[in-house]
Amino acid sequence: MSQRQPQRLNADALETFSSNAQRRLDAARLQGRVVDQSDEVAVDGWLGAMERGFLDALPPTPRMRRELRDTLVGSRIIGIYDDALSIEGDSADQSDREIDEDPTDEEAMHSAIAASPAGTAQGWPTGLTLVGGSSVDAWAISAVTVAGTHRRRGIARAMITDQLDAAIASGASAAVLTATEGGIYGRFGFGPATRSTTLRFDPRRVSWRDRADDDMTVRLVAPQALRAEAPQVFERARNAGDIGRRDVWWQQALRVFSLRLFNHGDSGTTLALRVDSAKTGRLEGFALYRVSGGEEHGRLVVDEVCAADPAAEAALWRHLLSTDLVGEVSARSQPVDFLLPWLLNDPRAVAAKQTSDSLWVRVLDVCSALAARSWSRSPAGTRLRLRVGDALGYADGDYLLQVDELGAGTVERLRGAATTDASVPTLELDVADLGSLLFGYTSASLLAGAGRACGLGECEAETLALADDLFSTARAPHLRTPF
Ligand SMILES: CC(C)(COP(=O)(O)OP(=O)(O)OC[C@H]1O[C@@H](n2cnc3c(N)ncnc32)[C@H](O)[C@@H]1OP(=O)(O)O)[C@@H](O)C(=O)NCCC(=O)NCCS
Repeated sequence: MSQRQPQRLNADALETFSSNAQRRLDAARLQGRVVDQSDEVAVDGWLGAMERGFLDALPPTPRMRRELRDTLVGSRIIGIYDDALSIEGDSADQSDREIDEDPTDEEAMHSAIAASPAGTAQGWPTGLTLVGGSSVDAWAISAVTVAGTHRRRGIARAMITDQLDAAIASGASAAVLTATEGGIYGRFGFGPATRSTTLRFDPRRVSWRDRADDDMTVRLVAPQALRAEAPQVFERARNAGDIGRRDVWWQQALRVFSLRLFNHGDSGTTLALRVDSAKTGRLEGFALYRVSGGEEHGRLVVDEVCAADPAAEAALWRHLLSTDLVGEVSARSQPVDFLLPWLLNDPRAVAAKQTSDSLWVRVLDVCSALAARSWSRSPAGTRLRLRVGDALGYADGDYLLQVDELGAGTVERLRGAATTDASVPTLELDVADLGSLLFGYTSASLLAGAGRACGLGECEAETLALADDLFSTARAPHLRTPF
């Protein structure tokens, strides 16, 4: 398998659809394009196709549609066009219309359908937080849809190929996405790398082990009032497995937009809490939530609790769980090793429901993706060779990880005789499983048990134990930014 070397920061490659991906589409007479975001008809056609792909409709108001277009700014959107798909009255015919004649709603809809691609995908540069808190450049992929009429013709494969080529051109060490189905992305080298859970609370069973921390002051505020400070708290709170938040993300989360995306529900008024430290006078955390009344009791849905320290987090939960007249509290996209049960007299007052994978990681550049994370502190000279298989050729090869007593690591690509030195313990695995190991989502032993990895060397069990130890983490990785 030939190694595809990263070509850093290639602006031209970002502006055009990958020729490598286009070759996959030629036989089906389909055309991949990077959508020009100054062309409103093309953008609306793309948005309509994307919403149809997820079985949604375009947002109902012009303001929301404008906001939806704004969510694309700063990202690279691609469409796969079937030029054979053109219907009467398509956008090309608009010039034939009388100048003063406005299109009817139906004509506008047909025009948008004619501009609709058969496949959509979106990508943008982001930062990916690693174990230890440092970040690497990554490429986020979203909005992957294929029209029902065009399934199983290789469109998704071509679009992911294009997105990975764009990721390489942007200088990303890894590509990341969240998956609607677990069976789609493994073949492209993505592995599940974080877990999220939905929590349900029974407020009647909540009683706290300790008194409230006097230093923390919780206040109700308008979400928009957090606009300047919330991103700073998020940056301080970021953990392994999280990605950077774009400004549009904040605009919808803090209700500057009327559009609601991701975790922020379909309806309801968003309320916000801020928690400040009396000692430092600084914002230490915030919560976003919605309440609705019921016949017997109300319901409170927590959209986000974000805190830079455990005392601030405890103060926010204490406030949320003591809201009067509320009989049920739930919270989505929470980490699996959460603080709350340890703060309560009855840990069963909170139950984890519906735990599932959240972030999927596709390592593109093994050296930069691995070197920036921290590792278990290890005796000087600790070495592990990683033999990575990659069917797409981006990361294929042997790499030497060396870790020191402080847990700092270096990673180098091995060539020639260094790849056959039998004295170096070696873990052989696929790049998708390397993505699942990156933050300690799984262990080398589990992968080996499933026949997905193997330890080469004098003693396989020792090699696996070494890999388990090196990759292990104190806290479970968590994506708190659905995208
Ligand atoms: C999932 C989806 C994008 C696949 O598109 P597609 O163009 O039909 O996929 P392709 O023809 O390129 O198939 C690529 C490979 O994935 C496989 N595949 C496609 N859809 C799959 C699915 N839902 N589950 C498992 N495998 C799937 C194909 O068999 C093919 O395998 P191969 O290349 O090893 O032979 C499409 O069905 C879709 O739009 N679904 C609804 C929206 C959605 O779920 N998007 C994913 C967002 S994360």
